[in-house]
Amino acid sequence: MTNDQFLSVRQASKSFGTATVLDGVDLDVGRAEFVSLLGPSGCGKTTLLRIIAGLTVADAGTVLLDGADITRLPPHRRDVGVVFQSYALFPHLSVAENVAFGLAAKNMRRDEIAAIVARFLDLVHMSAYADRSVKALSGGQQQRVAVARALAVRPKLLLLDEPFSALDRKLRETMQIELRRLLRELGITAIFVTHDQDEALIMSDRIAVMNAGRIEQFDTPETIYARPATVFALEFVGLSARLAGTVTAYDPAGMVAVDTALGPVRARGRFAPGSRVLVGVRPERIAFGRQDGANTLSPVLADIVFQGARIQAHFQTPDDLPFLIETTTLPAGLAPGNPVPISFSADNATAYPAVT
Ligand SMILES: Nc1ncnc2c1ncn2[C@@H]1O[C@H](COP(=O)(O)OP(=O)(O)OP(=O)(O)O)[C@@H](O)[C@H]1O
Ligand SMILES: [Mg+2]
Repeated sequence: MTNDQFLSVRQASKSFGTATVLDGVDLDVGRAEFVSLLGPSGCGKTTLLRIIAGLTVADAGTVLLDGADITRLPPHRRDVGVVFQSYALFPHLSVAENVAFGLAAKNMRRDEIAAIVARFLDLVHMSAYADRSVKALSGGQQQRVAVARALAVRPKLLLLDEPFSALDRKLRETMQIELRRLLRELGITAIFVTHDQDEALIMSDRIAVMNAGRIEQFDTPETIYARPATVFALEFVGLSARLAGTVTAYDPAGMVAVDTALGPVRARGRFAPGSRVLVGVRPERIAFGRQDGANTLSPVLADIVFQGARIQAHFQTPDDLPFLIETTTLPAGLAPGNPVPISFSADNATAYPAVT
């Protein structure tokens, strides 16, 4: 076991009937790392999490945790804590009793249990509610109690399945920051399932971008955003400007020249001449005006959308793919219907195989 293989999932596969839900997934998570599984509904996130927790039996594959093969262990012997989207607290117990629940099975003295409960309620800012019934709590408060309960037993690994999706936006943002701080403080390894890209970008050390039962890219938020490995990762995480085209030349350094409907561009990629590709650029990497040595095009402005701090300029493209600039300031004199010179460096553009 190396330090970045505190948890190691190897070739996990799962089918329900004829549908393959997980297709040979590998996942390595380091000690104290916070990893998100990010992907659209139905891509297999919960299934993967349940296999790690022992709540679903995989058809094939192994799960190693802290050097031990836990593939065949029942959930309660895995040292894995789970927090689900629905709070799943015990409604007849108080806040403190809920947090104490897992500790009772550990043969601890009552004063030891009380001290741990107090500590974890304090960590999630719920000390004042210790004696309340959990039925008398808001959604965010219940979710805090659920986190405290899962952490109180000091699991080796904490699994969280969309724990904040039922909360309003403001509370969700607070909980994201608080949970992150708490896990860092405690040095807990966590896997967090979400289909919210912002949540994943904000919270994670690394993100596994999942699509149709596979992990398409597993990397830091910065790399996934700046260098999406696949068209799916490009489209699912953040906005992108995209142009379809045909490769006309390539150089061994890993750049291609592409003929697009808006004109020729250079992009990162390795394709033979004649290949159909999709060129993707992040909208904030495109600037108004010409730049020496950069890709320069003159697309027709379609629309300007004000979004408070940011402004989007959308352009017409013959292939109906999105092509936009995201900026904080617009040049003067822009008018929809007119061509506008824009530019982006080849290094910020990536060519992907065209989706057929
Ligand atoms: N017990 C089951 N029986 C049959 N099909 C199942 C079962 N559990 C999951 N599936 C199917 O497996 C696929 C993946 O489900 P999973 O719950 O892992 O998706 P998910 O990525 O968590 O999606 P969501 O974001 O909607 O929660 C879905 O098509 C789902 O319908
Ligand atoms: Mg799910």
